[in-house]
Amino acid sequence: MRLPPGPPEGLFGLGFYRTLRRDRLAALAHVARTYGDVATFRMGPQRLALLNHPDYVEDVLVTRARLFKKGRALERAKRLLGEGLLTAEGESHLQQRRLVQPAFHKPRIAGYAASMVAHAQRAADRWRDGEQLDVAAEMTRLTLTIAGETLFGTDVEADAGAVRQALTTVFDAFPLTMSPFAPWLEKLPLPSVKRYERAQATLDRLIYRIIEDRRRRQDDRGDLLSMLLLARDEEGNGGRMTDRQVRDEAMTLFLAGHETTANALSWTWYLVAQQPDVERRLHDEVDAVLGDRAASVDDFARLPYTRMVLSESMRLYPPAWAVGRRAIEDFDVNTYTLPKGTVVLVSQYLLHRDARFYEEPERFDPDRWLPDRQKGRPKYAYFPFGGGNRVCIGESFAWMEGVLVLATLARRWRLELRETEPIPTQPGITLRPRRPIRMQAYRR
Ligand code: HEM
Repeated sequence: MRLPPGPPEGLFGLGFYRTLRRDRLAALAHVARTYGDVATFRMGPQRLALLNHPDYVEDVLVTRARLFKKGRALERAKRLLGEGLLTAEGESHLQQRRLVQPAFHKPRIAGYAASMVAHAQRAADRWRDGEQLDVAAEMTRLTLTIAGETLFGTDVEADAGAVRQALTTVFDAFPLTMSPFAPWLEKLPLPSVKRYERAQATLDRLIYRIIEDRRRRQDDRGDLLSMLLLARDEEGNGGRMTDRQVRDEAMTLFLAGHETTANALSWTWYLVAQQPDVERRLHDEVDAVLGDRAASVDDFARLPYTRMVLSESMRLYPPAWAVGRRAIEDFDVNTYTLPKGTVVLVSQYLLHRDARFYEEPERFDPDRWLPDRQKGRPKYAYFPFGGGNRVCIGESFAWMEGVLVLATLARRWRLELRETEPIPTQPGITLRPRRPIRMQAYRR
C-alpha cells in the first residue's frame, strides 16, 4: 500500500496533532502547500487524508460517495444531534431525507420569505442611530427567530441569548471533542465536560418545550415540526419516528438551520464594511429595486449583486469550512492507496482561497461571480453547501434568507466596522468569528 506524503507522525501519531490544535486552518494550509493535493497525517490512532483539488471533492462527495460514511466530527456530533438528518447514514438517512424534503420545496421556501423579511425589519426597527452592535449576536438572534418561526411555528427570540451561549460552550469543547482521547476524557468530571453537559441540557429543554407546545395544541400548521409529528403518529407504535427521533431531527434542523446562516451574514457585514465600493453598489441595488417598500420573494431574483456579495463572502468565510468522510474500504487516489478507516477531509476554506481557481484569492471581489468571470472554474472549486447525496437540504432556504435579510437591512442601515485588528476565525463545527464583531449602525 503506497501512502501519500505528509508531516512527520511523531510519537503515537501525535506529532502533527499539536500543530493542528494550535491553528487548524493554518495547519491544513501548510499540509496542502508542503505535500500537495493528496496528503496524509495522523491524529493519534486516526489516519486522515487531506484531498485538496476540486476533482477530489467531486470524487469523494459525488462519484465515489458510496465508499464513504460521515467523518469523525459528525460521528462525535451525534452526542448532541443524535440520529438526525445530518448524522444519519444509509437507509435511515434516505428515509429521513424524504420525510423532511417537502419542507424545503420551492413553494415552501417562497412561503418563508415573508417571515424572513418581517424579522429583518423588526431588527431594523430596533436598532438606533449610532448604536454599537455585536453583529454576530444580532445575526444569530435574527436567524434563530426565522428558523423558529418558519420551521417550528414558534417564537424563540427570547431564547436567542441562551442558545448562542450554549452553542458557544459546545463549540469551545470542539478541540476536546476531536481529541483522540475524547472517549476517555468525556467520562471525567472535567469543568469543560460539565459545561458541555449543561449546554446540551439547555438546548434539549428548549427543543422539548417546542415539541411539547405543539403536541398540546395538536394542530397541523403544515410546518416542518407538524410533518415530523405526523410522521410519528401515522404509524402508531413501532412507527417510523419515535419521540427520540423527532427530538434528534428537530435539534438538527434547529441548529443547522440558523448557525450557518448567522455566520454567513456576520462575515458579510464585516467584509462589506471594509470595501466602500462594494457597500455603495449594494446600497445602489437595494435602493433601486426596493425603494421604500419591503422586500418580497419576487425580489430575490432582482437582487443579483446582493447575491454575489453573499457568494463572495461564503467563498472567503465558508460557514462549513471542511467536510469529512470515513472510508469504508481501501481506496485509491492518484497513485496512492489509503486504508479503510481513513478520514478524508476536503476543505472549502482551502479550495475557496486557492490561487489556481481564484485570481487574487484573498481579495473580496463580488464581481468574480459575474457569469463571464466564472467560466473555466471547476464546479467544486466552490462548494459551501457540500455536494452529492448529502448536499445541504437548506441551501435554497439559506440563499433566500441571506439575500432578503441583507437587502432589508442594507436598505435602512449602514454598518461601520469598529475594529482596528482583523477578526480571527474560530474553525469549530462552523467558521465563527473568534470574538464579537463590533459595528456601529448608521441610519441611511
Ligand atoms: C449559509 C448557510 C448554510 C451552509 C453554508 C450550509 C452548509 C452545509 C453543508 C456543507 C452540508 C453538508 C455536510 C456534509 O456533507 O457533511 C450541510 C448539510 C445540511 N444542512 Fe446546511 N448549510 C446552511 C444552511 C442550512 C439551513 C438553513 C438548513 C435548514 C434549515 C440546513 C440544514 C442542513 C441539513 C439538515 C444537512 C444534512 C443534510 C443531509 O445529510 O442529508 N443548512 N449544510
